[in-house]
Amino acid sequence: MGFFLGIFFGAALGFGLIVIFARYQNIRSLKRNDLATTVASFARMTVQDSRKLLPPEVYPSWVVFSHRQKLNWLNRQLEKLWPYVDQAASEIIRNSVEPILEQYRPAILAALKFSKLTLGTVAPQFTGVTTMESDPKEIVMEMEMQWDGNPNIVLDIKTLVGVALPIQVKNIRFTGVFRIIFKPLVGEFPCFGAICFSLREKRNLDFTLKVIGGDIGSIPGVSDAIETTIRDAIEDSITWPVRIIIPILPGDYSDLELKPVGMLDVKLIQAKELTNKDLIGKSDPFAEVFIRPLRARMKNSKVINNSLNPIWNEHFEFEVEDISTQHLTVKVYDDEGVQASELIGCAQFPLQELQPGKVKVVWLKLLKDLEIQRDTKNRGQVHLELLYCPYGTESVFMNAFNADFRLTSLEKALRPGPDPIEQSKSGSQQKKSDILFRGVLTVTVISAEELPATDISGKSDPFVVITMKKSDQRNKTRVLNNTLNPVWNQTFDIIVEDGLRDLLIVEVWDHDTFGKDKIGRCIMTLTRVILEGEFSDSFPVDGAKTGKLNLYLKWTPQPILRDL
Ligand SMILES: *[C@@H]1O[C@H](CO)[C@@H](O)[C@H](O)[C@H]1NC(C)=O
Ligand SMILES: *[C@@H]1O[C@H](CO)[C@@H](O)[C@H](O)[C@H]1NC(C)=O
Ligand SMILES: *[C@@H]1O[C@H](CO)[C@@H](O)[C@H](O)[C@H]1NC(C)=O
Ligand SMILES: *[C@@H]1O[C@H](CO)[C@@H](O)[C@H](O)[C@H]1NC(C)=O
Repeated sequence: MGFFLGIFFGAALGFGLIVIFARYQNIRSLKRNDLATTVASFARMTVQDSRKLLPPEVYPSWVVFSHRQKLNWLNRQLEKLWPYVDQAASEIIRNSVEPILEQYRPAILAALKFSKLTLGTVAPQFTGVTTMESDPKEIVMEMEMQWDGNPNIVLDIKTLVGVALPIQVKNIRFTGVFRIIFKPLVGEFPCFGAICFSLREKRNLDFTLKVIGGDIGSIPGVSDAIETTIRDAIEDSITWPVRIIIPILPGDYSDLELKPVGMLDVKLIQAKELTNKDLIGKSDPFAEVFIRPLRARMKNSKVINNSLNPIWNEHFEFEVEDISTQHLTVKVYDDEGVQASELIGCAQFPLQELQPGKVKVVWLKLLKDLEIQRDTKNRGQVHLELLYCPYGTESVFMNAFNADFRLTSLEKALRPGPDPIEQSKSGSQQKKSDILFRGVLTVTVISAEELPATDISGKSDPFVVITMKKSDQRNKTRVLNNTLNPVWNQTFDIIVEDGLRDLLIVEVWDHDTFGKDKIGRCIMTLTRVILEGEFSDSFPVDGAKTGKLNLYLKWTPQPILRDL
């Protein structure tokens, strides 16, 4: 049960460490002497580390533990400490977790509180300890823990219709890796100012929920809602890069806190081949997009009615705190009106695959679940364009526009300039999102290859329709009779008012005596053409079994207007 495990481990570990580091003087059974040995042993991950951490008089420097001995030692210490941890941590957990639960409380519940909370008699086991090579100004340890606990946890929930239910959390099994950072290292005992800890990796988390004196299945939705709440709460309150900071020595540790380092621009373009969740008609899909599952920082797209290939064309921005470990998550749901939305599928993209200032276009395959990925059923794909801008490069980006209308390369602007400070001094406070890219988009529909046959004759009569999503301007090529490899070679000039937010939709149709059929389409943002000025490329025709479309695109910028 995640939040307990998360917060609980955090709190327990934190508390254990606090005990160890003698903040809680009232726990007399631990004498200062024991404390010193404990500190030393914690720190004696390598001899060098311990020398950095501790004055030589507090530990016998000739002792060097093997990895196994270290773990055994740690586990024995934790077992000894466990009754104290249980006693004191229960209160800490209750006080720190209840507000978090409240923040994540699902709408179907009116209240969610603990009525009982003890951690049981079984202490977690350390199954691995590593000290990371890092900055000499800090010590970073990763500890793998496993817990098959027997806690007694009872949640009191109240549903909106006023029914109160005691829910027991049972059979908790958890494996995860905690990262513990001792920082800053100082000259006085215990040699560091604060401890930060965080759940670096959640490997396994199982638990069951049971209504005391009843069946949880009798209240539909409650079990799922609680489970989701718990998982979100863990994710947001303790999962790396989020960290909990425990000051040991008085001081200002605000620099240890998690801080945003940049901004991620996400264009949610479209999805294709979504699973149909509706019995009548098609799904009404919308997407939920986020980096951290914190309600205030999650974005929802609009609902596209009755479509398995929705085009959203929406733009979102997210703060990034740690590019090396964070992910962008996209969940696609079917909107069910008054009922709860049904999940079609979800996907994640690791931000470390992005290069700062470089646009990346991705198609992500939707999965049933982000954690267990055994299911291979096709649920559809979602099309995104991503751009990560670390803070500090934005002012350069902005200035490039303000100073010079002749700008031809967005990328040049994005690249950190030689002196961003100098530039930002002369720059304005305008936001990147306020800039309009106005220009003429030239589209040459050159040809298509290997289109699928739609007529009995084994041929098609294809033509192409070009549409701009925002202005809805449409142009058509002529119909070419009886071919699967048409060459149109026709050029269209389109005036675009807002190049960074418009989409080009190119559809291939088959002209038929009795009407027309869509063969497939390809959709793209204008970012690439704005960046490169012009290019020719070949694009797969989505929705068709085979087929490629050869296009030439060119962008002629016009003076940039500001949307004030
Ligand atoms: C989608 O359908 C809902 C109800 O079925 C309706 O209220 C809404 O206006 C529709 N939206 C669009 C864009 O057609
Ligand atoms: C494209 O469509 C616009 C109006 O929708 C029209 O004015 C223009 O002439 C068309 N361009 C070509 C090359 O057909
Ligand atoms: C294509 O076929 C239609 C009738 O099927 C005919 O009217 C039209 O002229 C043909 N076009 C060309 C370019 O051959
Ligand atoms: C397309 O048209 C241009 C001139 O309008 C011509 O130079 C080029 O060879 C043509 N390409 C094809 C594939 O027909």
